[in-house]
Amino acid sequence: MTPDPRSQYRFSDYAKALRTHYRDFATDPESIRYIENVAASCEALQPRPDRFQQLHQRNFGSAMNAWHACRGTVPTGVASGYKGLLRIKTPFDLVLYQNLVWELRPQTILEFGSLQGGSGLWLSDLMDTYAIEGGEVHSFDLFSKCISPAATHPRLHFHSCNLYELETLDAALLSRLPHPWLVIDDAHVNVLDVTLNVDRHVEVGDYYVLEDIGLSPTIAFVEGLQKICAQGYAIDSDYADAFGYNVTSAPNGWLRKMHKA
Ligand SMILES: C[S@@+](CC[C@H](N)C(=O)[O-])C[C@H]1O[C@@H](n2cnc3c(N)ncnc32)[C@H](O)[C@@H]1O
Repeated sequence: MTPDPRSQYRFSDYAKALRTHYRDFATDPESIRYIENVAASCEALQPRPDRFQQLHQRNFGSAMNAWHACRGTVPTGVASGYKGLLRIKTPFDLVLYQNLVWELRPQTILEFGSLQGGSGLWLSDLMDTYAIEGGEVHSFDLFSKCISPAATHPRLHFHSCNLYELETLDAALLSRLPHPWLVIDDAHVNVLDVTLNVDRHVEVGDYYVLEDIGLSPTIAFVEGLQKICAQGYAIDSDYADAFGYNVTSAPNGWLRKMHKA
């Protein structure tokens, strides 16, 4: 990860510029104060000491179920589409990924669960937006023939695999893909075994996001997450709690590899 990413925030420049250049127009002190407050909370220049939390410091509740919160009444293509392809993410998670890709600048994004390819295409476009030199997205799915030919991007590579058969995950590929990594498990099958298998290739500083399985945490999920976290992961609360405690499709699932087990 780059040095303290908070030093890259420029929000407070806006309020300063307003005061400097438009003092006569910007007469509403409340609106300037509002912007200053937003800026201050985004730019808390000292990283929060409790940003990376151990699983035992967390509970399994959520202030709000992220999926329930964004159920709309208009055609789902608006809520769940990207460039005309399915991309099934909550608006909360779209913002979280957008910021994590900016902050982490991953060289590799691994996605388990390609669906139609829309999410992989979006992640590839994000890498373009942030001019991440050499960055690639590798997306894996059982039903790879359902991936749209429109999901085409020079950074984007699809692979067939069955996550119940771990030997179908190309270990040679994983061992050579450059870090940092952002791994997104959005297939929700055999998650514990998949994560422990992929973890052999994960390096300190990489991120591993477990989507959806933490929304209704079962005992098996809690025990599985304990085993995963025992491999040296902590929960990045800047992401898990950005919209309220665990208001994300990945409650307690924004994991950062802190050390090797
Ligand atoms: C929730 S969808 C992925 C959504 C997509 N990432 C997005 O954001 O739009 C889950 C995907 O997991 C895939 N999947 C289900 N079982 C699988 C398995 N055993 N191995 C690999 N992929 C599997 C499904 O084919 C499906 O495309």
